[in-house]
Amino acid sequence: MRKIAILTSGGDAPGMNAAIRAAVRKAIYCGMEIYGIERGFAGLINPSPWRKMELSSVAGIIHRGGTILHTARAPEFMEKAVQEKAAARLRERGIEGIVVIGGDGSFRGAQALDVLGIKAVGIPGTIDNDIYGTDSTIGFDTAVNTVLDALNRLRDTATSHGRVFVVEVMGRHNGFIALAAGLAGGAEVILVPEIEFDLDQICRRLVKGVRRQKTHSIILVAEGAASAFCVGAQIEQKTGLETRVTVLGHIQRGGSPSAADRLLASRMGAAAVDLLREGRGGMITAAKGGAIHPVPLLEALTAGRAFPADLYELALILSM
Ligand code: F6P
Repeated sequence: MRKIAILTSGGDAPGMNAAIRAAVRKAIYCGMEIYGIERGFAGLINPSPWRKMELSSVAGIIHRGGTILHTARAPEFMEKAVQEKAAARLRERGIEGIVVIGGDGSFRGAQALDVLGIKAVGIPGTIDNDIYGTDSTIGFDTAVNTVLDALNRLRDTATSHGRVFVVEVMGRHNGFIALAAGLAGGAEVILVPEIEFDLDQICRRLVKGVRRQKTHSIILVAEGAASAFCVGAQIEQKTGLETRVTVLGHIQRGGSPSAADRLLASRMGAAAVDLLREGRGGMITAAKGGAIHPVPLLEALTAGRAFPADLYELALILSM
């Protein structure tokens, strides 16, 4: 394979730039041409210029959050006619393979292109860590550390005032960020979409804590589990404890990637190019047991990542 393309799609994640850098430099090292598509799948279907990436195009980006290729959500790419147009445009320019960095929505687009004959390799880049087959996605570690930093700061003020803090983190469909940050940050309660919760029981726990001279409590809520404002209002009303709410929002998506994310991104970017060189499309790069392995795109799309109930149980025990 001589000519390939690369794009980032869906929500950005810290470490995407490190992955672009690795794929570009590995491709050039292997004598391939690599083209950067702007704004994800939207850039494939709209007449935006595709830039030929050079070694210098990716200089000075390994430490930067966001994505130099920009990103977009492109729901129109669900349509067969649009996918066919994109595949035709790639073929016209002699592009045989594509690296797609993103989450499950982006992988659906990659799978469609692969079926249409453009070999596609997905790199899991999303703060959500919700991709089947890989221990971690690019951006998750940085996002969890960002939440932890916020929790440390909130705990200072929560202790000083003796307040309950309800903190909302990202995760529309899953609670991986909430669980990891909650366990690492010692949150008293973690609410995730995967596990039903009983607010009355939580309130009883909070009141019991106060009786044991507990100075404050932190409740971490994944956005898909409940609205932090609703939870906060109900807690204050049911317990009489002074409660404050913080929604961390898109702060979790920005910032310089952690060392773990840069390493993962560098290895996955290079591995994606290797797969394309071998003509192995229809795969994602997945981290398992310290190595990067290919996992079929279809499997990554259909299997669904299991929620680690044992870790949730542990977080409950440790937060007593
Ligand atoms: O998929 C990543 C993610 O950050 C989710 O955690 C969040 O629910 C969503 O994107 C927010 O999307 P947008 O930036 O389009 O509002």
